Order: sequence, then structure tokens, then C-alpha cells
Amino acid sequence: MTTLHILRNPSLTTRILHTLHSDTTVDPTTLSVNLPALLNHKPLLSSVYAETLRLHLQAYVTRASPHRDVHLAGWTLPKGKVCMVNTHASHMDETFWNTRGGQHPVKEFWAERFLIWPGDAGSGPVREDMVDYKRPTTGVVDTVESEGWAGKMGREGKGEPFFSVQGLEGAWIPYGGGYAACPGRQFAKRVVLYTTALLVGAFEVEVLTPGLVMDDECFGLGTQKPKHEVKFRIRRRGAVPVL
Ligand code: HEM
Repeated sequence: MTTLHILRNPSLTTRILHTLHSDTTVDPTTLSVNLPALLNHKPLLSSVYAETLRLHLQAYVTRASPHRDVHLAGWTLPKGKVCMVNTHASHMDETFWNTRGGQHPVKEFWAERFLIWPGDAGSGPVREDMVDYKRPTTGVVDTVESEGWAGKMGREGKGEPFFSVQGLEGAWIPYGGGYAACPGRQFAKRVVLYTTALLVGAFEVEVLTPGLVMDDECFGLGTQKPKHEVKFRIRRRGAVPVL
């Protein structure tokens, strides 16, 4: 879905392409991808990835307290009982996520939702009026994932946007969280970013199916995917990148 969201949007494709080709993160002639560059300097691609997980994933984070009752935000989890936290409920919380004053509703894909523009308090993943949220500044250390998050080197001085999930703990939870957070998340992220970079950077893909109808049948216990075939035309990019 990360790749499809990019390829369906020509201007987004052009912008992502520029980031992939300007420093040869992807070389279309050799079909090679520079993974460290991909992981560290691609805030827009990271934002698309995070937004895709926010929008198209639904999982239940299951917890129990074996030794004592737990009191949290007015609720009590009795000792030995199981509770389940639905990621989608959190990912669709309009009181938390930034929609730019309703321009980008939580139920819609917005490639830039996770981009923070220095000096623009209305940018970034969280609503401007969320008092508990402390906007990350340049050079943030990602607290959800310990390393390798693209864009964490936000260059505030140059006014370039950066990506960060700092402050989203408990809100952006596609991989759960805490002691039992998904141990495969670093691997999953690399597979998604690598595949997306290769497909977008080394191939010209024309998506022929207009609009997308999503299949909700298994949504609730996994990912949402297109209900019908998505037709496309694909060919290798030439040696000279199209920017
Ligand atoms: C986009 C891909 C993936 C998503 C969205 C995802 C999501 C999750 C979630 C929500 C949990 C529960 C976390 C919690 O309770 O806090 C989980 C657990 C787990 N995941 Fe993933 N996962 C993904 C990929 C993978 C991969 C690639 C692997 C292995 C290579 C993996 C292995 C596991 C394991 C072993 C657990 C159980 C951890 C435990 O109970 O301690 N996952 N995953």
C-alpha cells in the first residue's frame, strides 16, 4: 500500500523520485538500493510509510496484569484479566491527529501527515492544540524505534521538514509497544522501504485503475488491502533518471 499510494499520485511520485535519485539511493541501471541512505535521509518516504501503517493496519495489542489490579485513566484492569487495545481506534482519533483544520481527515491518506516543518506549528502528526504533545525539534532521537528512522536529522536551520514519531508513543501503535512491541518491526520497515524504493526508483509504473475500493473483510486482524485488481503498466526506468 505504501508503494501504491505513491504511484497513484504523480506529484508525490516525482517528489519521492527526486529524493531517491538525487543521492543515488536507488540506481535504476543496476537495480541497487543504498539501504543506509534510504533509512536515514528520506523524511517524505518515512511519512508515507508511517501514514500507511496508521491508515491500513488494524491489530489488537493484548495485555494482562498477573499480580495486581492496574488503574489507568479512570479504568481498572483487574488482576488476571485480559484487555485488548485496538490500534485503529487510536489511529483514527480526531482529537489527536493533525488534519490541518479538517483538510486531511483521519480516514484519508495524507502523505505529509508525519512531516514536521520547522517554524510551522500547524505541521506534524499531532493537532496543534494538543497540550500534552511536545513538538520534536531538530535532531530528535526517535523514542519508538531506537535507530535508523529516516529524517530524524531534521535540519531546522535550513527549514527542511523532518520526520519523527517522538511523542506518538501510545498513539501510533502499529507495532504495539512497550516490552512486547513487535520484534520484527525493524525488519518489516526495511522490507517496505526497500521494496517501495526499488519499485518507484527503478521502474516507471502507470496505475491504470482509477480510485481504490478497499477490502474490509479481514480488517480488524491485520492489514486492509484493495478489494479488486489494481491494473498497471510497468517498465524499467532508463539510465537517465526522470526527475
Ligand atoms: C508491518 C509488519 C508488522 C506489523 C504491523 C506487526 C505488528 C505486530 C503487533 C501489533 C504485535 C503485538 C505487539 C504488542 O503486543 O505490543 C506484534 C507482535 C509480534 N510480531 Fe509483528 N508485525 C509485523 C511484522 C513482523 C515480522 C516481519 C516479524 C518477524 C520477522 C514479526 C514478529 C512478531 C512476533 C514474534 C511478535 C510477538 C512478540 C511478543 O509477544 O513478545 N512481526 N507484531
